[in-house]
Amino acid sequence: MPSLSQLLSMKGTQEPIACLTVYDASFARLLVQQGVDVLLVGDSLGMVVQGQTSTVPVTLDEMIYHAKLVRRGAPEAFIMVDLPFMSGRTLEAGLDAAQRVMQQAGADMVKIEGGDEATLKLIAQLTAQGVPVCGHLGLLPQQALRLGYRATGKTADSAAQLRQQAQALVAAGASFLVFECVYAALATSISQQLSILTIGIGSGAGTDGQVLVLHDILGLSPRSPSFAPCFMTEGRNLPQTIAHYVASVKAREFP
Ligand code: KIV
Repeated sequence: MPSLSQLLSMKGTQEPIACLTVYDASFARLLVQQGVDVLLVGDSLGMVVQGQTSTVPVTLDEMIYHAKLVRRGAPEAFIMVDLPFMSGRTLEAGLDAAQRVMQQAGADMVKIEGGDEATLKLIAQLTAQGVPVCGHLGLLPQQALRLGYRATGKTADSAAQLRQQAQALVAAGASFLVFECVYAALATSISQQLSILTIGIGSGAGTDGQVLVLHDILGLSPRSPSFAPCFMTEGRNLPQTIAHYVASVKAREFP
């Protein structure tokens, strides 16, 4: 599986990154076998595994538990792990959470939602300590109770804020950046401007890679978002479904 530097070099060669969420060892093995470049242990596990209505109830211990399972199933994979709700309530708490995810779960990178000042400070400290970080802008599921689930970057003000936050994340040392439900033209323009890898979900075809929630592409989610089609169609079995997703991303046929 690719190293961080190999993944970053894919920006130069313009090979799209195929990323999927995963929460256990069996699926981790399958995803690697079918060529998924980056495994994301997302806090979406709150919804698709635990049956919760948001990501808010997911704890750090639960993230570490699932990340360990994924690492066991895919010892060589590049694994990114979400820091869950309120992990960054203080700088100290954020640093401790990231340390546990890296050391106890064997993550290669932590993903952190948001671009506010406190989050930028945490990311700068983590990257200074050698922790690879993926930022996450646009729709922020951990803030959904306050802000709702909605696309961002439509107005000039919110587009400017998003662009500024993306640049600040780069300055803080982030290596990847997830754009969730960001207007496609804006996500494309920021992706072209930045040196780091952007991975989009519901943000159009112009990012450097794509990520979806595994259960959505398998048709297992009771309510999948419109940008996450079921890939398990036309008689495909599980391995064929994952391979079809990867091939569609690589060929820029999805989205
Ligand atoms: O938790 C998750 O699955 C995520 C993706 C939606 C990017 O953060």
